[in-house]
Amino acid sequence: VRIILTGPPASGKGTQSAMLAQEFKLVHISTGDMLRAAVVSGTELGLQARRYMDRGELVPDELVIALLQERMAQPDVIERGWVLDGFPRTIAQVESLDAAGVQPDLVLCLEVPEAELVQRVTGRRSDPVTGRVYHLQYDPPPADDTELLQRLVQRSDDSEETLRTRLDAYQQNVAKLKGRYAEVLAEVDGHRSKQEVFADLTRAVGMVH
Ligand code: AP5
Ligand code: ZN
Repeated sequence: VRIILTGPPASGKGTQSAMLAQEFKLVHISTGDMLRAAVVSGTELGLQARRYMDRGELVPDELVIALLQERMAQPDVIERGWVLDGFPRTIAQVESLDAAGVQPDLVLCLEVPEAELVQRVTGRRSDPVTGRVYHLQYDPPPADDTELLQRLVQRSDDSEETLRTRLDAYQQNVAKLKGRYAEVLAEVDGHRSKQEVFADLTRAVGMVH
């Protein structure tokens, strides 16, 4: 099964994609995670992408599209199916999928109000060793694991100010994206517990699986 998971910044795309990938044995492909990995390893792409990401702006289409195409061509992706987290975000990105003959079976969109996004973004912490994402209030790391607590990091784009820019970028494109995928679109209320949201997403996947 081939799933696109979209939604505003910090709406839970990464969290739910990881759960869906595990449940349905899919490859989880996050362009945000791939770009952050490129920044950490200091590649040419990372150097170019970083300034956009730190400001909360979209990385130029040609860079993201090239990165995604390379990943989509790998055998595990073709064999197992995938959940695409945070791509496509622009019509040019949709067209790149069209040109490659890639059509999703389902496009899921998480709907979360802005005030909640602020809470989620400011409380997010992640573990650089495992990649696991926590939230200081909503999904706290185990209080007795001092080693984990010490190595938790906050993303450089996780300020309330940068969130506004990321949200603007999302709102400029989301209507066109939803229009383009209207036939396979399911909008899901993401302002509930992780498990409740997951139950709805799995139900939607079950209908196309
Ligand atoms: P990206 O990494 O995709 O960032 P984003 O879209 O802003 O989304 P986030 O990763 O911040 O949030 P999420 O929806 O994954 O939420 P999460 O599960 O972590 O992209 C980063 C940047 O890279 C972009 O700004 C852009 O520059 C660039 N980029 C990436 N893709 C691109 C593309 N295609 N084109 C151009 N540029 C691109 O959850 C958030 C927090 O909430 C966590 O703390 C979590 O624990 C908590 N949480 C999750 N679910 C719940 C729940 N149900 N209840 C309470 N808390 C919850
Ligand atoms: Zn994410």
